[in-house]
Amino acid sequence: MSTQTTGTIAVFGATGQQGGAVVDALLDHKARVRALVRNPQSDRAQALAARGVELAAIRADDPASLAAALATVEGFYFMTPEANSLEEVEAEIRIGTALVDAAVEAGVPHVVFNSVFGADRESGVPHHDSKHWIEEHLRKSGLRATMVRATAFMENFASVMAPSLEHGEIVLRLPLPEDVALKMISVRDIGRVTAALLLDTAEAPGGAVELVGDELTGPQIAAAFGARAGLPARYEALPLSVLPNDLDKAMFREFATAGECPSDLAVVRSIEPATLDLVEWIRATGWTAPTTVAGS
Ligand SMILES: NC(=O)c1ccc[n+]([C@@H]2O[C@H](COP(=O)([O-])OP(=O)(O)OC[C@H]3O[C@@H](n4cnc5c(N)ncnc54)[C@H](OP(=O)(O)O)[C@@H]3O)[C@@H](O)[C@H]2O)c1
Repeated sequence: MSTQTTGTIAVFGATGQQGGAVVDALLDHKARVRALVRNPQSDRAQALAARGVELAAIRADDPASLAAALATVEGFYFMTPEANSLEEVEAEIRIGTALVDAAVEAGVPHVVFNSVFGADRESGVPHHDSKHWIEEHLRKSGLRATMVRATAFMENFASVMAPSLEHGEIVLRLPLPEDVALKMISVRDIGRVTAALLLDTAEAPGGAVELVGDELTGPQIAAAFGARAGLPARYEALPLSVLPNDLDKAMFREFATAGECPSDLAVVRSIEPATLDLVEWIRATGWTAPTTVAGS
């Protein structure tokens, strides 16, 4: 595969889902990768080192460690850690701001920030507005910046949003009205699209890409899993009160609003033509119906 950027690409979050997928895609392109990790001895960091990734030990609250880790790199990718409380939102903003400031200090030629769908504006969702403010900080930094705005991970259907098997039926329950389309993307494709932007083999129109690989209503999602399992399927819309905290309630309210505006699914595919839709993701991951029978 061709690469236009030949220098080292720094990755923050390389031991996590999205950063890990970015590393996978960069290594597929034979790029040189430096992972900014807080614990180089961790199993995940060592697994990266075994694949040829350079490790740079950093502390997010130590600007000198960040600037040193970003010295001489040609591109820098970062995401910000999950926040489940307002305190964690504050920490997320601190980390994102420190990473941008370090990139300025090191004079990084191109920074790609893994933000969230809708972060071009304030939405009232605390852990989305945090990303909006980090985007603003990055935009004002004067650095060449690209935003990749992730939607819900398809991988959630293998964990927190997994359908269940009840009385011979696939059942999906989400706190989302049944006529609202959920925007989603596979983590693999977040990595592939981001790598193409970091390597300058693709460009983001207007400096930002909404990462949407598919958008389907609850009944359509349930039907996709049912078809794979060869079983009938149904969807049940749950009230927002089932969610554990106000941040998630605000987020699902925002999902319902965002679902009213269809996305242009061709944009992501113009960068990564093999971007998976949900049916392809179900097939690619070898998803099978849960063996634990719930509710019977
Ligand atoms: N789930 C979704 O559907 C979805 C959709 C859109 C956007 N998002 C956003 O995606 C983000 C989470 O991404 P993810 O799932 O890829 O994260 P993840 O798998 O939890 O990985 C987090 C990464 O950040 C690193 N990290 C965390 N705190 C750190 C610190 N203080 N200093 C240095 N490194 C630190 C972790 O390193 P260690 O290995 O050292 O822990 C790990 O590499 C959140 O901001 C969330 O809002 C999620």
